[in-house]
Formats: sequence, C-alpha cells, structure tokens
Amino acid sequence: MTISIRELQILTEHFNSDPKCSYSLPSRAYIKPDFLDIEREAIFYNSWQYVCHVERLRHPGDYIAIDMQGRPIVAVRDRAGVLRAFYNVCRHRGHELVKDQGNIKTFVCPYHAWGYNLDGTLHSARHLKTIENFHFDDFGMMPVQIEEFCNMVFVNLNPEAKPLSLQSGELAREILQYAPDLETLTHSYRLTYRVKGNWKIVVDNFLECYHCAVAHKDLITLLDMRNYQVTTYDIYSSQIGPVSMTSNSAYNVEGASVQDHFLWWLWPNTGLLRYPGDPNWMVWHFIPVDAETTIQTFDFFFQESTPTDQQMEAIEYIDKVLQQEDIDIIESVQRGMNTPAYEKGGRFVVCSGDEKGETEHGVHHFHSLYLKAIDRYLQTRSLDQIETAPSGNPQRTI
Ligand code: FES
Ligand SMILES: [Fe+2]
Repeated sequence: MTISIRELQILTEHFNSDPKCSYSLPSRAYIKPDFLDIEREAIFYNSWQYVCHVERLRHPGDYIAIDMQGRPIVAVRDRAGVLRAFYNVCRHRGHELVKDQGNIKTFVCPYHAWGYNLDGTLHSARHLKTIENFHFDDFGMMPVQIEEFCNMVFVNLNPEAKPLSLQSGELAREILQYAPDLETLTHSYRLTYRVKGNWKIVVDNFLECYHCAVAHKDLITLLDMRNYQVTTYDIYSSQIGPVSMTSNSAYNVEGASVQDHFLWWLWPNTGLLRYPGDPNWMVWHFIPVDAETTIQTFDFFFQESTPTDQQMEAIEYIDKVLQQEDIDIIESVQRGMNTPAYEKGGRFVVCSGDEKGETEHGVHHFHSLYLKAIDRYLQTRSLDQIETAPSGNPQRTI
C-alpha cells in the first residue's frame, strides 16, 4: 500500500497548534481507504484498546477473543490469576485458537490439537517424534500487552507501549473521584450501532457540545451548559457539567444520586461516561470497519445486572433519541466529506466565559494527537521505503 507524501503534507497544511488559527483535518482523512490502513498501523496497533469490564475475566480460565482491526487477540485469566493477552494464533499453522468468550482449562487448537497452557506456553503437540530441533519454548503463544485500568481491561499491540496508567496521567484518579462506586457496578446492557461515518467523525462529534443546543433539544434541558467544562490532557479530555436545576425533557432524574454529567475521551476511540441518575458507568467504543463505516458499542454498568424501569428510561432516551440525533449528524457529515466543498477542512470554534461549554478545542486536541501519531509512525519508516510513484510524485511505502 502506498500513499504520497503530498497527501500526508496536505493533512497538516492548514493545521495550527493554536485552535483559534487552525483548520480541522481535511476531508481526505475521512474518506480515503488508504488512511485507515495507515491508522491501523499508526494508531490502533499502537494505543490502548478497550476489551471488556474486568468482571468478564474474573476467574482463572475466563477468556474473551476479540478482533483488533483484523488481528485476532485473546485475553485470559491464567491459573495463577494473572491477566494475560496473546495473539489468538496457533504457532503450528496459524489457526485461531478460540472464539467468542467462555472458560477453558487450556487452549486446544481446533486444527491439529496443539495444546497451550493459559500462560501461553505450548504443552503438547501430536506426532513430533521425527521432528528435529523442535523446542516447545520456541512455539508459545505470542504475548500482547494487557492492563486493568479502573475495572476495565485494555490491550496494546505495541510491545514497547508505556502502561496506560502512566500514559493517562491523572485520569484514573479523576474517574475514581467522580465514580467512587465503580467497583460495585456490573454489566447490565449493551447497545450496538453500525454507522455510515468515518470513526473520526464519531469522535469529533463526541468531543464537543457546540452542537448540543442545536441538535439535542432534550439533552440541553438536562445539562447546565453555563457550567459545562471541557478540559484537555495528554491522551484524554473531559467534559464535566452539572445537571440543570429546572425540569428536563430527556428522562426522569428524580432521586438521582449522580447529579453531574461526566464524560471522558481516551485516545483514540474510547468514551467513558457517567450520567445523571443512579450510580452508573458507560463505555463507548468506536470501532472502524472501513473508511466510511464505524461500529459503536455502548456498555452500561449499574449496581444490578438488570436495569430498573427508571434506568431503562435513560437507556431508551440514549438509544432512541440522543444516539439517533447523533447518527443523523455523523452520516450527514460523511456525505459532506465526499464532496469538493470540504476538501480543505473546517475551523474550530473555541469559546470561553459563559459559552465555554460549547467550545471545540477538544476536537482540536484530538486532531493534534492524530497528526502526531501519523507523523511518529512515518518517522519510523526507513528511507528505502520511500519510492517514486508512476505519476512522478514521491511516495512512501507503508
Ligand atoms: S494450526 Fe494449530 S495445531 Fe495445527
Ligand atoms: Fe451529540
């Protein structure tokens, strides 16, 4: 796969570290399939990706198999209680070892039955008597970095990546300050959507509430936007605002113990939320399928595994109203990206004072992390990977 250096230069051409002077990413980053190929290498194989709540991997033998942008991965709790992750790939002929999720004693490959311990070591392989120089130690499952973070499990395919707890600075402390009951919450509900929009449009939309007063007529009655605060940090940003003191048309918050709306975005594609109501936690995961399609999963956690009627009312508002409003926006923006009208990108609206809740500097922060990740990745390409395209444009092979 090749992409011209010119194409990459255009990405940063109108970007400025000061959001007030900057253009946003140009449309090509949202529509060209080649960019997703680069993003897989530069971003998704090189960042902490949400897998599940830790409760799913509580007991020895519990495992979950996931697809990480085309790479099969398995997370497992081993016999000694250690959380581990591996490529879900047999070292004999490359077959996937497990599917879905469950509890196992060992990994047994469904192709020729090589067996692996839960710590990834190979313990059995049939008919090896005639094979020379075969060492079991050379054929263990290939490990992947895994980390438990605020009761959630993340993996990172870059073996050199710094721990999420280090990369994310004060995020864990901030989460536990606002959601001290996190440990008591259990998975209760999941919503899944397939949206016709690039994953970055989904993230852009998640990172600003400039559109809330226009597009979310009910949400805006729930939030006190004058005290809504958007803050950016190294690899995350937060949006925190109190619930409005007047009545709202979104859902019933009577007796709510959570009186504020908390929303964190963790680079590159995870949203963490706590909304007004009963003690709750939500994880939104934005998973690119192709350049113009994203799967969104919303996991809801409450104190009970079945939502109450009042909790269901909030879920239904999110599902039937809020998310439908956002899907319409995302899909419309994607259509706009496919025209010459948006080639250069747009601008960021940066607000302060009473309007500070409507600022878009969180989107600028995301674009700046995005461009840094692409640039960092290109720095690792060697000169012999730069070649000349038939058109005469210099190209860098990815
Ligand atoms: S591919 Fe797994 S045992 Fe052959
Ligand atoms: Fe929205």
